[in-house]
Formats: sequence, C-alpha cells, structure tokens
Amino acid sequence: MSSVSATTKTTSVPKGRDMFASKLGVIVATLGSAVGLGNIWKFPYLTGVNGGAAFVILYILCTLVVGLPVMITEHSLGRTARADAIQTFKKLAPNSAWWLVSGAGVISAFLISSFYTEVMGWVFAYIAKAIKGSILSSSPEVTSSAFSSLISDPVQSLVYQWIVLAWIALIIGLGVSKGIERVVKALMPVLFGILLVVCIRSLTLPGAVEGLRFLFKPDFSKVTGATVLTAMGLSFFKLSVGMGTMITYGSYFHKDQDIPATAVRVMLSDVLVSLLCGIAIFPAVFAFGFEPGAGPELLFITIPTVFSVMPFGRVLMPFFFVLAFIAATGAMLSLYEVPVAYLVGSHGWSRKKATWVTLAALVVVGTLPALSGSLTAHIKVMGMNFFDLFDWLTSSILMPVGGLFLCVFAGWRWGSANIKAALTNDGALRNEKVVQAFTGLVKFVTPMLVLVILLAGLKII
Ligand code: PFF
Repeated sequence: MSSVSATTKTTSVPKGRDMFASKLGVIVATLGSAVGLGNIWKFPYLTGVNGGAAFVILYILCTLVVGLPVMITEHSLGRTARADAIQTFKKLAPNSAWWLVSGAGVISAFLISSFYTEVMGWVFAYIAKAIKGSILSSSPEVTSSAFSSLISDPVQSLVYQWIVLAWIALIIGLGVSKGIERVVKALMPVLFGILLVVCIRSLTLPGAVEGLRFLFKPDFSKVTGATVLTAMGLSFFKLSVGMGTMITYGSYFHKDQDIPATAVRVMLSDVLVSLLCGIAIFPAVFAFGFEPGAGPELLFITIPTVFSVMPFGRVLMPFFFVLAFIAATGAMLSLYEVPVAYLVGSHGWSRKKATWVTLAALVVVGTLPALSGSLTAHIKVMGMNFFDLFDWLTSSILMPVGGLFLCVFAGWRWGSANIKAALTNDGALRNEKVVQAFTGLVKFVTPMLVLVILLAGLKII
C-alpha cells in the first residue's frame, strides 16, 4: 500500500446520503449522462455542417486529450469529497475562491437544461407525430413546415417543455439509486437495440456508401480555428464535463470503483454511440439525395423525410424518436441532479423541496430558449437568439473554461499525491502508468490545449 499521509482521505459517505447501488449502475448512469441528444441531434448536425470526417476525427481527438482527462478529474474530486459540486471545492480548498468553478457550473447546468428540455420537447412531440403519421412526407417542404409550425407556436413550445420537465422531476424525486440508476439501467438496452436496427436499415440502402465516405473519409482543407473549438465544445458537451455534473456523479461512486477504467469505458461507449448515430443517419441522407448540412433541423426536417421514403421507415420512425427521448432522459437527469444535489448538500433541503424549486427555476429560465422561435425570436444577443446563445455560451465558453480550471486545480493545487490516491483507490490498484500519464495530461497538455483552442476559436490569437 502506498502512503497517502499527505493526501486528502476519501470522505466516508455521510449518513443518509444516497449512492449508486452497484458498479454496473455507476457505469450505466454515467454513460446515461453522456449519451443523449448530443449523439443523436448535435453530433450529426455539427458533422453535417462542418464537412464530415475531418470534424469527426477532431471530435474524437478532443475527447481523448481533453474530455476524458476532465472526466477522470471530476470523478476523482467528487468521490474524494463526497459532496455536491460546490461543497467539493469548499472541502478540498477551504477558504479559497475555487468553489466559483462549480458555481459557474451550476449556471451552465441551468442554461443547458433550458434548451435541452426544449429539444426534448420537440422529440416528444415528434413521437406522437410519427405515430399519427402527420410528418410522413417525401417532401422536405412539408416536414419543414411541420417543424416551423411547432417551434413558432409559443403554447406548444412551452407545454412540451413542461411535460419533459415533469417527467424528469418525477424520476429525480425518487432519488439516485431508485430513480436515476434504475430508470437508466432499464432504458439503455432498449436504446442500443433500436439504434442497431436503424443502423442496419440505413446501411442496407442502395447508395449508403456515399454517407459512409462522408463520415469516415476526411478532408482537412476546410478546418478552421472555429471548427476545432466546436469539436472541443462537443467533446465537453458529450461527456457532460466542465461543469460539475461528473463531480456530483463521482460523489456517488463506491470507494473501490476504478475511476480511470470507468471513464475510459464510458468515453469509448459514448463515441461508439455517436458513430452509430452517424451511421444511422448519413447513409440514409445520401441515399435519398438530401443535404447533410441542414443544421440543427437535421433531426426534425431531414430525418422524417428520409424515414418517409425508405422501406420500413414509417414503422421505424416512431422508434427512432423514442430512442432519442430515452437517450435524452439519462442526460437530462444528470443535469437536473447538479442543482438538486447542491440544494440538498449545501443547504440541507429535503430532496423533494430541492426538486420542486429546481423545477420552478427551470420553468422560468426555460421560457427564454423555448420561445426563441416565437415571442422572443426578435431578441438577438451577438446575433443569436436565446436558444443559440445558451448553446454556444455553454459548449464553446463555459464548459471549456470550467474544464481548464478543473485541470489547473487538480494538477497544481490538489496535487499529484491526491491524484494518485484517488486513481489507485488509496493504493489498492496497481496502475502506475495510468496515474503518470493522467498527471502529465492534467497538469500540462489538457489545460494548454484548451487554452489555445479557446483563444484561437474566438480569434483572440
Ligand atoms: N452529454 C449530454 C449529451 O450528449 O446529450 C448532454 C449533457 C448532459 C451535457 C449533462 C452536460 C451535462 F452536464
């Protein structure tokens, strides 16, 4: 056993604090946070807009050298402190301003939740539309006007968002192991099953190979600083890191959970799901001659049209939107858990009260992006409506800045001895190489890269 006398001992679990019940539960819930609309909606549309394979490669590289180390950092800090995101910093660096890093994270969680629940609301509406057959059309004009009439109707936009919020609040109210862990564990296999069926259907279409070429044959000539920043932002968004979600989840890990191995499994599975979503979508888009660069509407305009014209597409379409809804549920649960854990842990509120207050706050903040296609459409900040602004601000600024500070904190303030203690489970695991590689990344490589990509992406350097 290595000596850990100079390190912060992992806090024992405070009495009454909920935990993930099993090791598999930890992986599934963490994967449930990572896998979401990021894979099904954001990854495909950003890949489509940014020219395909080159963007996919940049996203995977950023995931390896930025997203993964930040995830390991967050799990380590959370499990050591056994506290919500803000208390974690207050415990590990008392009487300092470091807690502001997760303070900003709680704000990010709110901003993301506010537009995420709106997209989930559209997905929910599309399940019903796909079953009824009202978005079945081979003409993009018809599916486009169906989408426009949904987002430009303030009542529908708000009601669907509220339905989603109520669904998430219900599960959160049940607790960590009985709510989050149980629901995500039940839904994950369904998600993989539906995804595989849609992939096989897409790949067996005549002309599918063009879509695979788009996804896997890179052309780096169009890559700019902004493209790299977008890819890095996606890697943060995908792994739910840079804002305290994974600190909160890490605080529910058992003391013998292998943190690096868990993070690597989650990261690999998440990348795999993104690629499968690409394989489900692009071959079909190309086979029917559609434009891959349709933007955020890809999922709601192009995809219904593609399903409408492909054999068995009409049967598969409702399942596809159910898949998106399931995936988004696990991710949204982890976003909602950040403020709830904070209100319970730092203010001693009951879980029920914290769930209700967070719900009320999300209903209020969510109004801004929800009405971006209607009542607040004319309000532009830096040329963006609230929906686009919240998305850009979180993925391109707040999460990378949060990730940068998390690395600097872990590498330079918390220090190598504490990192080693967390990654080896206080000396129980023999993984010296992993510890060494991680320490080098988190101290030097990851923060430097984040800084350079951030400054170049914002055209500051
Ligand atoms: N990772 C989720 C997705 O890809 O859909 C989004 C997300 C969830 C971001 C939780 C941040 C977060 F804290």
